[in-house]
Amino acid sequence: MIIFGGSAGETLAVRTSLLTGMKLGKVKRQSFPDGEQYLKIEEDIKGQDVALIHPLGGRPDQLIMEYLLTIDALKSASPKSISVVVPYLAYARQDARFHPGEPLSFHLVAKLLEGAGIDRIFTIDVHLQRVPSLKEVFKIPATNLTAVPYIAEYINRIYQPKNPIVVGPDDESEQWAKVAAAKIKTDYAVLSKTRFSSTEVKVKVKGGESVNVKGRDAIIIDDIISTGNTIVEAANLVRKEGARKIYVGCTHPVLSLNALPLMYSNHIEGVVGTDTFAGPISFVSVAPVIAEALTSKKK
Ligand code: R5P
Repeated sequence: MIIFGGSAGETLAVRTSLLTGMKLGKVKRQSFPDGEQYLKIEEDIKGQDVALIHPLGGRPDQLIMEYLLTIDALKSASPKSISVVVPYLAYARQDARFHPGEPLSFHLVAKLLEGAGIDRIFTIDVHLQRVPSLKEVFKIPATNLTAVPYIAEYINRIYQPKNPIVVGPDDESEQWAKVAAAKIKTDYAVLSKTRFSSTEVKVKVKGGESVNVKGRDAIIIDDIISTGNTIVEAANLVRKEGARKIYVGCTHPVLSLNALPLMYSNHIEGVVGTDTFAGPISFVSVAPVIAEALTSKKK
């Protein structure tokens, strides 16, 4: 298999190539004077399996166009198969028409990615909330991988939390909290979140439940940290309930607005993310997760 990295996935492609021994393919990329993108596959891929690693974080619209151009160029060079890894799948949170007149962005982006003509797709900890499975939005084989065991292992090894409990800030985070807790062999609790707007949320203990955090270090786990408000709300709540130190892990550190200073000024001891969305807290690499998926014999 030959691995190609999109412009936001170059480092991940290099890391994956180093882990798997797979050849790294060359792509030339330029911009036309009017801002349109140009690219050229500079590799003979005829009859070969190829994989494109293409996160969609940071400048999603430009990266979606780059993706479409790259797949078209790859297809024209007659490979045997094209697998794509989209470590961060942008637009997945608009997974319903919340108000009349809105687009169904998740489904549309999935259609665009698949429609470009690929054989299979992998994502990592994609935001599955109202869409329960990737099978609902893709017709081709689609696999959602997870980086959560690596994040939990990193937090446990670096911070050595005392008598830790994993906390999910909202219902959908239970899928990640459960995996993190199993990895570090402890229990987990899930809180309840109400979202009022993209910047306003309220996190509460679920009706009739309590969170067993008193005197323990809490590790809050979520898929995405965008504004940081979900994490700060959850952190303030577990602190009020008696937690000692608070650590945070997420797969996709989107970090919009002033998320990082906001979290650190709310006495969170450590925040850890991965390189699906490369940035200042991308301490964990998902390259081993991708390498394992691309080399797995399971179909
Ligand atoms: C959505 O519910 C996600 O799982 C995250 O909880 C959310 O994207 C975090 O957003 P923010 O950091 O802006 O609160």
